[in-house]
Amino acid sequence: MAKIRTTDVGGFYHFYPKLATVVTVRAGGKRNGMAVAWGSPISFEPPIYGVSISSKRYTYRLILEAKEFVVNFLPIGARRLIAAFGRTSGREFDKFERFGIETEEPLKLGSPILKAAYAAYECELLDHRTYGDHDWFVGEVVAVHYEKDLFSPEGVLDLERVAPALYLGNDLYLEIAKKAIYRIGREEVLKP
Ligand SMILES: Cc1cc2nc3c(=O)[nH]c(=O)nc-3n(C[C@H](O)[C@H](O)[C@H](O)COP(=O)(O)O)c2cc1C
Repeated sequence: MAKIRTTDVGGFYHFYPKLATVVTVRAGGKRNGMAVAWGSPISFEPPIYGVSISSKRYTYRLILEAKEFVVNFLPIGARRLIAAFGRTSGREFDKFERFGIETEEPLKLGSPILKAAYAAYECELLDHRTYGDHDWFVGEVVAVHYEKDLFSPEGVLDLERVAPALYLGNDLYLEIAKKAIYRIGREEVLKP
């Protein structure tokens, strides 16, 4: 295998696969959502989650207005819904209406929860900062919705019951099948 070493970073896509989520928001009378693959947990205590959103997105200004957002975690079965949120803009139409998207009520904030999500975080906007052509939006998770039966008591997702939607870039969605799961704890690592 030939490994390329270059300072010409260019396309910058080597970090995929990433979870394909949908970030939803309601600001004033407007609701919207967009696909977001560039997201990450930031802190356990307090629980903080971040998403990277380009200022070109309609969602961008709605989040700034609402000072909140919801991160929806979806199964691969919802890939068309994710693509619908990720390949159209709320500037054109109401995506929920156009694609017949079912929602549930939030617990604490005002942004819609997707019914299809196996987990969702209601996030209160703590901070946002521009890095290059995207902004990093940081939200404190003030409420969590999740399908209890899909997680072990320790909070591990049961891949026998749900395949999370992963994104490979370039409009490609990936289903991970449970082939093997390896537990490698500290004892294992320190074994001679
Ligand atoms: C699977 C997928 C993941 C995406 N991830 C991001 C992302 O992390 N950040 C971003 O700014 N745009 C991302 N996009 C693009 C937006 O979802 C897309 O531009 C969307 O149409 C914006 O909608 P809006 O204008 O209604 O906000 C992604 C698109 C797809 C299909």
